[in-house]
Amino acid sequence: MKDIYTLGIESSCDETAVSIVKNGREVLSNVINTQIPIHTLYGGVVPELASRNHIDNISAVTKMAVKEANMELKDIDVIACTYGPGLVGALLVGLSYGKALSYALNKPLVGTNHIEGHIAANYITYKELEPPFLCVMMSGGNTQIVHVKSYTEFEVLGRTKDDAIGEAFDKVARVIGLGYPGGPKIDKMAQNGISNIELPKTHIDGLDFSFSGIKTAIINLHHKNPDVNKENLCASFEKAITEMLMEKVKMAIDKTNIKKIVLAGGVSANSYIRKEFEKLEEDGIKIYMPDLKLCTDNAAMIASAGYYNYLAGKVDDLSLNAIPNLKLD
Ligand SMILES: Nc1ncnc2c1ncn2[C@@H]1O[C@H](COP(=O)(O)OP(=O)(O)OP(=O)(O)O)[C@@H](O)[C@H]1O
Ligand SMILES: [Mg+2]
Repeated sequence: MKDIYTLGIESSCDETAVSIVKNGREVLSNVINTQIPIHTLYGGVVPELASRNHIDNISAVTKMAVKEANMELKDIDVIACTYGPGLVGALLVGLSYGKALSYALNKPLVGTNHIEGHIAANYITYKELEPPFLCVMMSGGNTQIVHVKSYTEFEVLGRTKDDAIGEAFDKVARVIGLGYPGGPKIDKMAQNGISNIELPKTHIDGLDFSFSGIKTAIINLHHKNPDVNKENLCASFEKAITEMLMEKVKMAIDKTNIKKIVLAGGVSANSYIRKEFEKLEEDGIKIYMPDLKLCTDNAAMIASAGYYNYLAGKVDDLSLNAIPNLKLD
């Protein structure tokens, strides 16, 4: 079969990213321009600033990605572009750019779901990985257990009823003064702490999650006792939230009898969570987790997911619009 080169474009939040991936799995270039230093000043992502910065950078990031792959734009076969979920203004920048490239180069446009992208990051890390499997998708905006039935068919078995897990990390970090983005900072702090603080764990029926209670408990605890040891607090938070996650993952394994678990999304970079999931291997469960640099937003994952959609015949026309609350199933 002829090789297929996909150019992926990602601009759903605060990363402007472009990547070229060969046959869905081999990364030829993966350029990411992060806006974190800009948003840090405000303690979180400012949507209007994100859109403006994507406009400023998308052209240069694309040129760099093409150059790093030692290619020319005319050699690209498919343009894969995130069209949701995400911030509407931010999404529209990457999507409009992708449409323009598709039109000018006369190459197919594949609108790509950002969450499918996070899952596909694993196809790049593990060349032999194929569906079906269960994916624990945990990012800044989403937390869900997904039955990945094929490269393009998904069933969400459980999801958060309130905060996403990454949102809980970021809000806790902000309240205890660690800054934005909080996940990596809590991860680092927790490594020097002991989990000696009892925190409430919310139990709800079925495979859904709720993380707002533990977040509020920490906020209250910190307000009442601002001198609480932050390292121990971070370690206790990570332990409690991981236990809540694990309980549902084990239920999903029992329910589906699928013993192949794939992690995805920014929070899957967390060192404590990775270690706890690795322990499941003792029970005969196979665990997959993306390379650290592919956990958070990037365009290689979008190119990979776009490639599999293209193979499945899912091609879009120029009327494709951004969908800020796009779902997986
Ligand atoms: N080491 C870590 N430990 C915990 N959380 C982390 C770590 N690294 C990153 N995160 C968290 O991951 C999130 C960012 O991940 P990601 O880029 O997947 O989310 P997003 O793109 O904002 O949301 P979505 O993918 O749902 O649209 C942030 O909440 C960040 O704090
Ligand atoms: Mg993301």
